[in-house]
Amino acid sequence: MRIRFLSAAAVAVLTSSMAGPVARAQEVVGSATSPDGALSVEVQLGPTGRLGYDIKRKGKDIIAPSRLGFNLANAWKLDGGFSVRDTRVSEHDDTWEQPWGERRHVRNHYRELRVELEQKERDQRALAVVFRVYDDGVGFRYEFPEQPQLRDVEITDELTEFAVAQPATAWWIPAGELPGLEELVRKAPLKEIGTANTPLTMRLEDGTHVAIHEAALVDYASMWVRKVDGQLLRAQLAPSSRGAAVVRHGAFTTPWRTLRIADDAAGLYMSDLELNLNEPNKLGDVSWVKPSKFVGVWWSMHLQQTTWNAGERHGATTKNTRRYIDFAAKNGFRGVLVEGWNQGWESNWGHGGADFSFTRPYPDFDLPALAAYAKKKGVRLIGHHETGANLVAYEGQMDDAYALYAALGVDSVKSGYVHEAGTMLFPGADGKPYYGNYDSQDGVRHFQKAVTEAARHRIAVDTHEPIKDTGLRRTYPNWLSREGARGVEYNAWGNPVNPVDHEAKLVFTRMLSGPMDYTPGVLSLVGAEGKVFNSTQAKQLANFVVIYSPIAMAADIPENYAKYPKAFKFIKDVPTDWDDTRVLNGAVGEYATMARKDRHSDDWYVGAVTDGEARTLPLPLSFLDAGKDYVAEIYRDGDQADYRNEHRFDLVVEKRTVTARDTLQLKLAPGGGQAIRFAPKH
Ligand code: NOJ
Repeated sequence: MRIRFLSAAAVAVLTSSMAGPVARAQEVVGSATSPDGALSVEVQLGPTGRLGYDIKRKGKDIIAPSRLGFNLANAWKLDGGFSVRDTRVSEHDDTWEQPWGERRHVRNHYRELRVELEQKERDQRALAVVFRVYDDGVGFRYEFPEQPQLRDVEITDELTEFAVAQPATAWWIPAGELPGLEELVRKAPLKEIGTANTPLTMRLEDGTHVAIHEAALVDYASMWVRKVDGQLLRAQLAPSSRGAAVVRHGAFTTPWRTLRIADDAAGLYMSDLELNLNEPNKLGDVSWVKPSKFVGVWWSMHLQQTTWNAGERHGATTKNTRRYIDFAAKNGFRGVLVEGWNQGWESNWGHGGADFSFTRPYPDFDLPALAAYAKKKGVRLIGHHETGANLVAYEGQMDDAYALYAALGVDSVKSGYVHEAGTMLFPGADGKPYYGNYDSQDGVRHFQKAVTEAARHRIAVDTHEPIKDTGLRRTYPNWLSREGARGVEYNAWGNPVNPVDHEAKLVFTRMLSGPMDYTPGVLSLVGAEGKVFNSTQAKQLANFVVIYSPIAMAADIPENYAKYPKAFKFIKDVPTDWDDTRVLNGAVGEYATMARKDRHSDDWYVGAVTDGEARTLPLPLSFLDAGKDYVAEIYRDGDQADYRNEHRFDLVVEKRTVTARDTLQLKLAPGGGQAIRFAPKH
């Protein structure tokens, strides 16, 4: 053990939220560095036995000394009075394979620091804190051992703090306001944010990029981060409407609190930190989980041309669905999503969802016949369960609902949880339904149950209005995708449509957490009542590469794809499952370029998006195999292209032969993008 004396500034940060005596002495009780030595973590005990940690990168403070601990409802707080029982440092290095993903192989290389503590004067209650220090970030969690003096744990507050050590700019969305993480991403000085959802992306004064998030959110409340003072952030657990935010019995671990730390925005995206901190696949053989593209009886409803409920303009009729199946079969899409197929859409479902049946189709929708017709054509229906966040109704029918789909060969289901904050209806352990937050501990339990129950039926899930992604797809690879941000549907609805910098923000904020069912590819660039997209047509194509989802919707209606056959070709070609991914450049909210290698061929794909500014970005092709010729099929903004006028449709498609030694210049129009397929020349 080593005694360290902190700078006055560090003491001010550490003690700003401390009750009790302020003293300068901090005892460093453990430390570890990343395998490359750049990141270092220290765990300290303060003068009153209060637990803290800090993080440095290349010797420079990233997180100044910050508090760790808990307030409990049923026992004295786990904060202060700690002494160390044991400290251990170990190293781990292995590489594991993803069944699907942005890259096939993931290296999991870290040093672990484990500090076991006890509160001597509180019945010797024990707690451990475990840090894993990677080259690209840090994860830490608490471990509650089985102990008779604290068998039931009711956590009211997690006291974990993040004292960001340099002035920072943040990109954030407010927590607790709109379920499903659908707020517009805001940019602000970190000291001016409120209570944020994670991932919370920051750029520090020296250019270092940091993203705070969590991994393996299981049977625990979601972590929001609340600005306490200046740049001091504290974990805030999504509240339960029934008492303590988290109630656990016996031994358990908390989710990992994660910080990706990189030189630049691209480095943030390249990290696999949260996936690495999740448990390996628990489902065994998941060859039944099929990354693929789909079309759907969907956009026409958002355009208000058809309706979810039965009636004259019903979208999910047998006839209309057959048309979509034919379209999918002809153009090589595996899936056809059908919404509004089941009874219950007549009621005010966004405020109750009590009338939904998940097994009874509307009379004008012949589910078995359509499932069989699709199969015959090499296509699968994609099921739909809009729940209106009524878990009483949904959980009561869940098993039958999945069983019905499974019997018909429907192997993926899009679920939906449209509701207003605080109004998810839970069954309640005592049988009395109650309203609460979708990201509370009970909400977290539900989303996991929906996925694990689906897995029993060999069904993959694409959750809309979901809990945030914390990397659980590693453990449950049937959790194929989710929404969890403003999707393209906002361009149909307005109020407002998605801003021109939306994708360039999403890539380095929401997309750090995992795949998003963004519903890209609306080539008509127009929503309901003539609302116009802030995008060129080329950007719609680039979004398939830039916004990753293993199950990706070509969202526009068949009539519109018929109008734009040249652009549609890229949508037909682009895969959704990757062998490798590289972020070639990017700045949060400004631009991003990604190269991804197809998992099932030697093709590479590039997508680039920009905000409202025109840009020329050099694209060195060194990611291609040396010594091979490739045909580059380029889909770029034309010279006139501009998202602000009718030239948003100005798309040029051209071919060039290139090699790994070439550098292309990506010319992006205001609000534009570029998509390229590189296929080896035979
Ligand atoms: C909101 C979802 O995001 C959208 O995709 C769906 O069509 C509606 N809810 C109805 O379930």
